[in-house]
Amino acid sequence: MDIKKVVVIGSGTMGSGIAAQVANAGISVHLLDISKEISINACERIKKSKPPLLMNEDLLKFIIPGNVKEDIDIIKNADWIVEAVVERIDIKKSIYSEIDIRRKSGAIVSSNTSSIPLKILSEDMSEEMKKAFCITHFFNPVRYMRLLELVVTKMNDFKTIEQLKIFCDEKLGKTVVICKDSPGFLGNRVGVYAMQVAMTEAINLGLSIEEADAIFGRPMGIPKTGVFGLYDLIGIDLMSDVLKSFIKELPLEDPFHKVGKELPLINKLIKDGYTGRKGRGGFFRINKDNNQKTLESLNYKTYCYHKSKKVDLSLPDLMDINHLLNRNDIYAKYAWSIIKKTILYAGALIPTVAENFNDIDEAMRCGFNWQKGPFEILNEIGISNFIKKLDSSDNIPPFLQSLNDNKSSLFEVEKNKLHYYNFSKGLVPITRPDGVINLADKKKMSSPLYSNESISLWEFNEQSHFICAEFHTKANALDQLSVEGLLRAYDLCENNFDGIIIANDGMQFSAGVNLNVFLDMALKKEWKRIDSFLSQFQQACKQLQYANFPVIAAPSGLAIGGGYEVVSQTDYVAAHSNSVLGLVESLVGLIPAGGGCKEMLRRWSKDSKAKEDPFYASLKVFNILGHALIADSPSKSMYQKFLGPQDFMIMSRDRLIAEADKKMKSVIPNYIPPQEMAINLPGPKVMPSMIEILEKLFEANKIKEHSFTVGKKLGFMLSGGNTDISQVLTEKQLLDLEREVFLELIEMPLTQERIKHTLGTGKPLFN
Ligand code: NAI
Repeated sequence: MDIKKVVVIGSGTMGSGIAAQVANAGISVHLLDISKEISINACERIKKSKPPLLMNEDLLKFIIPGNVKEDIDIIKNADWIVEAVVERIDIKKSIYSEIDIRRKSGAIVSSNTSSIPLKILSEDMSEEMKKAFCITHFFNPVRYMRLLELVVTKMNDFKTIEQLKIFCDEKLGKTVVICKDSPGFLGNRVGVYAMQVAMTEAINLGLSIEEADAIFGRPMGIPKTGVFGLYDLIGIDLMSDVLKSFIKELPLEDPFHKVGKELPLINKLIKDGYTGRKGRGGFFRINKDNNQKTLESLNYKTYCYHKSKKVDLSLPDLMDINHLLNRNDIYAKYAWSIIKKTILYAGALIPTVAENFNDIDEAMRCGFNWQKGPFEILNEIGISNFIKKLDSSDNIPPFLQSLNDNKSSLFEVEKNKLHYYNFSKGLVPITRPDGVINLADKKKMSSPLYSNESISLWEFNEQSHFICAEFHTKANALDQLSVEGLLRAYDLCENNFDGIIIANDGMQFSAGVNLNVFLDMALKKEWKRIDSFLSQFQQACKQLQYANFPVIAAPSGLAIGGGYEVVSQTDYVAAHSNSVLGLVESLVGLIPAGGGCKEMLRRWSKDSKAKEDPFYASLKVFNILGHALIADSPSKSMYQKFLGPQDFMIMSRDRLIAEADKKMKSVIPNYIPPQEMAINLPGPKVMPSMIEILEKLFEANKIKEHSFTVGKKLGFMLSGGNTDISQVLTEKQLLDLEREVFLELIEMPLTQERIKHTLGTGKPLFN
């Protein structure tokens, strides 16, 4: 049975998120709550959500609001019924009894509960419904969090669960981890424990909350919210409820009890209304005195707030656990205490809670956005090294002891296949669902064809024989080395491979060219070096665009600025449903100069309206680039022509490379490289229209002086420079013009101020 009709009961945070994701898959979904008014309000919330839960507002038509009293018979036709009402056993059970008498045979029923055991939820159900009942534990926000924990028991019908698993993976784009019915499942069990360790150890060591978050953050491959910032984000009161439920459910000997006790500090914050971002603030707060927003941090010893201090740890940009642990200071001590306890805790869950340690790593990566799971971190430290560093009082779980005794690694390559160490079975091959190619697996089992600090090239022999070009700097910002790597990929690919797929498993595909590189050269007035960098960047993109083999980009997360310029000059884009594309250079007082202006002009000049109106393409691109518009879904990208008809969308992040590979295979037999462009642009004649737009914005106080200057320069570029509509411009002329204007702008002190400001604050400066 295909899942075509879905009913979600409960239209709160999670129910509306699940319904929106079903709508994103183009499947109609009834969203029921106590009253229709509540579910209509939920639809309004979905429409206004930020970041948007829907890929496109039009998709709201797939969500049909209703109420459980009048519309309950809808259940009779549903293939999947998801319960996402408040966390109360009595309410959930009364809903199941209504479902039980109505559901059609074979219909799947699931609960989104985060803490009630499946065996309790299902105890009063008919035997027939028990077979089809499981827990689908989605994470918030549903569209953006990859993890779905699917909790099953021996009671379940395997085929039914498999159907749901495939649906949630392929249609809803989730990374599905099958879990046992145990408290907190995998993600929260390990994730909340790690958070509690991070909080209690910070207090034990007397670290400030800024110091703690600076360590338990990027250096450990954890999102920069750290622990205190994450508490504020989740809600300090909600976290307190989560802890209570763990304390209630977990046996007394579980180490969670040592770190999960309520702290007087937390109780005081909740009592005073400091519940985090949704309340008056929490560990951090924004002080809006004197019309100025200042970020403040709590001193947990004095309960007073002070201006937040930036902590400079002088650590490498990228996660390097051994480097961090080898420091001889309190920060290394803090990091080690968290890593040690988390690994020991996770290790003790094998094999009773999780048979396969990879599931815990996956849950931490996809549910908590950790770059590496605890066992991948252990793999970097090395088992024997880890055990040597332990204190005599530490309890080594049998799984870790057996790894050490057998001198086995967590991962091994045998017969060209990646294996993992299974506590009961020894080495077992890692299997991925059909249609999933995992770059992280490849990295564990082989060496790259080529690698430098910014990029690695990997050989894949799947449906096609391709090179995967993987960016791997901070936010995958591009620099000289990334460009060298792309040129190298071209050289390697010619005659030896079918093509190139540009993809990575970072949070962002690429946040653009590293602004530090430009600022550094600008401050030294090295204009020739800037020109030569841009020229090489343009050359690399151009070579890939016109190569005699296909090049496919597979972006997920941000692909903006230079990142988008790379994407835009490939043959096909396999775009993840949450990819964000755009050219945002004007925000830092620059213009795209890696072929981005040229590419957007090419795309808009093919529009039928451009045939009638010689100004059309220049003005359209002027508005898109001038406003630094971005598109936060592939369908929105189509409106801006960031994507074209040849490109395609994929819901699952795990399937990007495999889908790109499938495309590669299908296009190779008849592959013809695109032709270089020749374009007619209006030249100075279109400038008055552009200046009029800028003047209006200036008069309305929407832009300031420098935006006006940047706008004029951008306009000059997009008009084609000193040309007229009768002249044909070559691609080279456009690329030269991009660099010429870029250089004029970067020489300006006001542009340099913008770059400095953005690098320092992460925000644009409007000057
Ligand atoms: P919520 O409080 O935002 O929404 C609950 C909704 O259920 C409300 O709209 C309420 O009107 C409705 N409801 C209550 N009784 C009902 C009934 N008899 N019939 C129909 N609707 C009814 O709660 P939230 O956060 O969406 O949580 C829902 C479930 O998801 C809970 O089981 C929770 O433990 C779980 N969960 C929550 C997560 C989160 O981050 N909020 C994450 C993962 C799971």
